[in-house]
Amino acid sequence: MKNQLSYKNGALHFERANISQIAKKFPTPFFLYSETILKNNYSAFYEAAKKAKLHEPLICFALKSNSNKSLLKILAKLGSGADIVSVGEFKRAIEAGIPAEKIVFSGVGKTKEEIKYVLKASKHGPYSFNVESIEELELISEVAKKLDKKARICFRLNPVVQPITHKYISTGNKTHKFGMLLDDVFTAIENKKLWKHCTLVGLSIHIGSQLLDLKATEKAIGKLCEAALLMPNNLEFLDVGGGLGVDYHPDDSKKMPELKTYMELIHRSLEKHYYAYRSKPVRVVFEPGRKISAKAGILVMSVLRNKVSEDNNFLIVDGGMNDFMRPSLYGAYHELFPVKKAPAKKLYHVVGPICETSDCFGSGRKLPALKQDDLIILADTGAYGYSMGSSYNLRGRPAEVLFKDNGKTLIINKATSYEDLT
Ligand code: LLP
Repeated sequence: MKNQLSYKNGALHFERANISQIAKKFPTPFFLYSETILKNNYSAFYEAAKKAKLHEPLICFALKSNSNKSLLKILAKLGSGADIVSVGEFKRAIEAGIPAEKIVFSGVGKTKEEIKYVLKASKHGPYSFNVESIEELELISEVAKKLDKKARICFRLNPVVQPITHKYISTGNKTHKFGMLLDDVFTAIENKKLWKHCTLVGLSIHIGSQLLDLKATEKAIGKLCEAALLMPNNLEFLDVGGGLGVDYHPDDSKKMPELKTYMELIHRSLEKHYYAYRSKPVRVVFEPGRKISAKAGILVMSVLRNKVSEDNNFLIVDGGMNDFMRPSLYGAYHELFPVKKAPAKKLYHVVGPICETSDCFGSGRKLPALKQDDLIILADTGAYGYSMGSSYNLRGRPAEVLFKDNGKTLIINKATSYEDLT
């Protein structure tokens, strides 16, 4: 059983939230988030960085994992920055109270309009543009010139490593569209006319997501440090990206590195590859998404009906791949728990209503016999859940509900219906 989920008197609780009580107030499917877990995850991350003596850590929460404004406001109050990849995410971060000087702008396809908007929005523009190509730098330089501003630039280095993760979310090799090879960074630096309106302030990496093995991370941070030493000026910061994985599957918990291990690895790498040659402290920037938001959310669903095809037991639920697409897109494993505790009886395929065979939250799952209207939850859906959802099959979007520290529940994003779609 996951530590944020437990049965009390046979009723499933998410942290202190009694799920069946909450489901009486809100129609399923809905995402349920815990303020306490979200805050604890952020604080644990920040404190671990401080404890490992990393210099002025800045945690830029990756909005793509969860961009709900109420959740972002909670993180903003704790001091979080933001990692954004679109002007939409920039606006959302600002509206939630995250200042531009704590925002890093990532992404391979920033448009001219986006660069202009983000540069204009505050006196010094964002904390950095994490630049992914020479052409992008040319565009930023051109826009900054027109606005008579200086853009803060960080190159996203492609460290050419091969992390162990799903191929769709691996980003640190030259076959991937992300990051710049070191030679190309040098070419960009040597082009003096690009630097009249740009200042080089940092270097970043992000080699992939859901990383449980840190070998490639260690290698990549070593390369990041070595590259930093070759830059024409001292850098303000090194951005080690996001990517730290969580234990979705019970077996993952044995593999999952502790925050302490991760931070100490960064400390060691910096000592060995950077501070052995430079004494000026360099800030460490992080871009975690999943590590902060995944476990802060669950998807609450109801059973629609059972269907038996010879020895295949299908449990048809009212949530679908449009609400949460990780299992169908990556074959990702997420645990399923009945809300009322009962002995597990049979093996089920837990499937949604969408007309795709991949609309399946889990196969061969041992569950109690459940019937129409019984509740079931999908665990660890706070990251890449609602943010990747769609209205496929012309379905409305689910509500997002927050269980607050004070025990109250609150809708933080209303469900939508057909009428909202048209
Ligand atoms: N920084 C950059 C530049 C990124 O591209 C990403 C994620 C992050 C930070 C945050 O990574 P995290 O700490 O959350 O692993 N939809 C996929 C994940 C895609 C990740 C894309 N980039 C999933 O559901 O697993």
